[in-house]
Amino acid sequence: MGHRPRRLPTALPRPGALAAFVLLLAAPVAGPLQRSVGRAEDLPPPPTAAPATGATSATVTATFKGTETCVRCHRSEQGEWTGPATTLHWREDAHSRAHLALTPTNERTAAIERVLGIEARRTRACVACHSHSSAEPAVTEETPLLHAGISCETCHGASSAYLEPHAAKEWRFLPTEKKSSFGMHDLRSPSVKAANCAACHVGDIGSGRLVTHAMYAAGHPPLRPFEVESFSAALGPHWRRIEAKPEQVRAEAAAAGYRTEAAGPIDRSLIEGLGVLRQSVRLAADLAAVAEGETPQVSWPELSLHDCRACHHALILPSERQALGYRRHVPGRPTLPRWPLGLAGAALRSTPDQPAVDDLLTPLLAEFDAVPFGSPRRVVVAAKGPLAGIDAAIATLTPGRAPGDEAGDRAAIEALASAGAAADDIDAARVVAAALLPALATSPTWGADERRDACDRIAAILGLDPAGMSPGSHRPAPTATPDIRAVRAAFILPAPTAAR
Ligand code: HEC
Ligand code: HEC
Ligand code: HEC
Ligand code: HEC
Ligand code: HEC
Repeated sequence: MGHRPRRLPTALPRPGALAAFVLLLAAPVAGPLQRSVGRAEDLPPPPTAAPATGATSATVTATFKGTETCVRCHRSEQGEWTGPATTLHWREDAHSRAHLALTPTNERTAAIERVLGIEARRTRACVACHSHSSAEPAVTEETPLLHAGISCETCHGASSAYLEPHAAKEWRFLPTEKKSSFGMHDLRSPSVKAANCAACHVGDIGSGRLVTHAMYAAGHPPLRPFEVESFSAALGPHWRRIEAKPEQVRAEAAAAGYRTEAAGPIDRSLIEGLGVLRQSVRLAADLAAVAEGETPQVSWPELSLHDCRACHHALILPSERQALGYRRHVPGRPTLPRWPLGLAGAALRSTPDQPAVDDLLTPLLAEFDAVPFGSPRRVVVAAKGPLAGIDAAIATLTPGRAPGDEAGDRAAIEALASAGAAADDIDAARVVAAALLPALATSPTWGADERRDACDRIAAILGLDPAGMSPGSHRPAPTATPDIRAVRAAFILPAPTAAR
């Protein structure tokens, strides 16, 4: 396939390094809840563990220069490659303002502060996701124009080494591994991008990011099941795909042998689905590593690691869970979150020689069946196989099929639909649908009417927007949870008619 190197998220950080950092995480919330961390000086030192924000093995030690540095150039046209929309869109997306959620004028935050006895703005465990990780110094250049939310460098990488070379014209078509060696994360790679987003939208021990159960119980909104492409679309992306760039740029890229888009949209979603599952498994493994360390810094069990609905459901009979059965899982023992399994399952199913997602995770899930909440020591060991398996699957799918492979797209759509038709979790079905709907809506394999009917049916029952993702549209509709059997039935596609 393309010349693009396979690029995987970083390896597990060392447990010893993790322990130091989790002190930060645990100090305000998992420790004595009333402990005040009111003054900035109270904050512990930065962590040394590798974060999962897209860094690669070639990571350099780099420092942060601040958003103002980037915006100086990126608020105007930068050749034909990137334009003023970059800063414009970022300024309007949720991230540039994410720190504002931490002020006490936010009612939820005020409630969280009251219950946990913290001041959110000065609590590393909140700031790590709503502004910058503890590896990144506070941004000082806040102006009315430019807020101190999640900075360019939080996602793109600390810039001290790449700032100069990347503004040169030669930079554009450098191989991605060369760019990464200067510390710029290869966010066009689906697996790197998934690791980056999921570090905050799922959690990441290496960069001090975890919504603990105490935070949830105190009022933090549940993190929503995350599908990278639809959430990207909902952001109002500040980037353009290569096919949307001017003809001249595309020609130059082709002449230089440079492909920024190795994968078409369906493969991007599938690879990212595996990346998100990887982050979810890694979160459990990393937290277990800290919990079983010599001086454990976190309490175990940590309920937020588990499937919320294992505990938070109504006591009604007959129950849907009982009717569906528990797969191979011991009834009544909280397992890991199930929402990442549908899309990752479809990714595995659409790739040759890959195990089923349940088989891949069996050694790990067995630990949560063996004793309630699992033993951290055993979880650390049991996670290794599944993580390696997920990495292998990502490597097999990477760099992905180029756009325009109709037969391959059809197989991927069918894998997604069968994952939806077998879903035993409503959020797993939503994540699958987020990847399936845009693919199905434009597939030439089904007739226009059939596609539209199928998309409308799936979208309606899940409360999604069939027309594609727009800001806010990925929010599940606030209706009652639909019957999972009706959800499954909605995913059964008609036979292809190939009417164009
Ligand atoms: C692991 C990353 C993470 C951590 C840690 C975290 N948050 Fe959040 N927070 C998020 C994300 C992501 C959302 C958006 C939720 C969604 O839409 O899925 C959010 C949403 C919120 C919201 C609602 C959004 C709004 O604008 O009203 C508030 C309030 C909030 N967080 C406060 C806090 C506070 C206070 C803390 C510390 C006790 C904290 N968060 C810790 C990631 C995090
Ligand atoms: C929440 C993470 C995040 C933040 C914050 C962020 N970016 Fe990005 N940026 C991305 C991702 C992801 C991509 C590429 C996505 C893809 O190709 O699928 C990207 C792409 C880009 C591109 C490539 C544009 C193109 O059309 O080729 C530029 C330039 C860029 N970002 C600059 C910035 C600047 C400047 C800031 C701060 C003002 C910023 N980004 C903030 C995640 C982020
Ligand atoms: C001196 C001006 C300048 C500054 C400062 C600057 N950029 Fe850029 N940036 C550019 C130009 C010019 C391009 C397009 C390069 C090209 O033509 O290949 C670019 C491209 C990019 C891209 C797309 C790269 C790719 O390979 O597709 C990203 C991402 C990016 N910049 C991020 C940043 C971030 C983050 C910062 C701040 C740390 C920053 N830039 C600061 C001028 C600048
Ligand atoms: C540094 C942590 C961080 C990273 C990295 C990050 N996010 Fe977020 N994201 C947040 C937080 C915190 C919020 C909630 C902000 C608020 O509501 O105040 C959020 C909100 C969002 C929202 C808006 C949700 C809504 O309420 O509508 C979308 C969409 C989103 N993120 C997508 C992405 C994507 C896509 C990526 C990767 C390219 C990404 N995020 C990377 C922390 C992060
Ligand atoms: C092992 C069981 C278990 C799991 C798993 C679990 N919780 Fe809880 N949760 C509890 C218990 C017990 C309470 C305390 C109830 C009380 O105080 O009466 C609680 C309380 C809460 C509360 C406040 C009380 C309420 O119902 O409004 C919220 C919100 C919450 N949990 C959210 C979550 C989220 C989000 C997840 C998944 C990330 C989750 N929980 C996973 C057992 C669990």
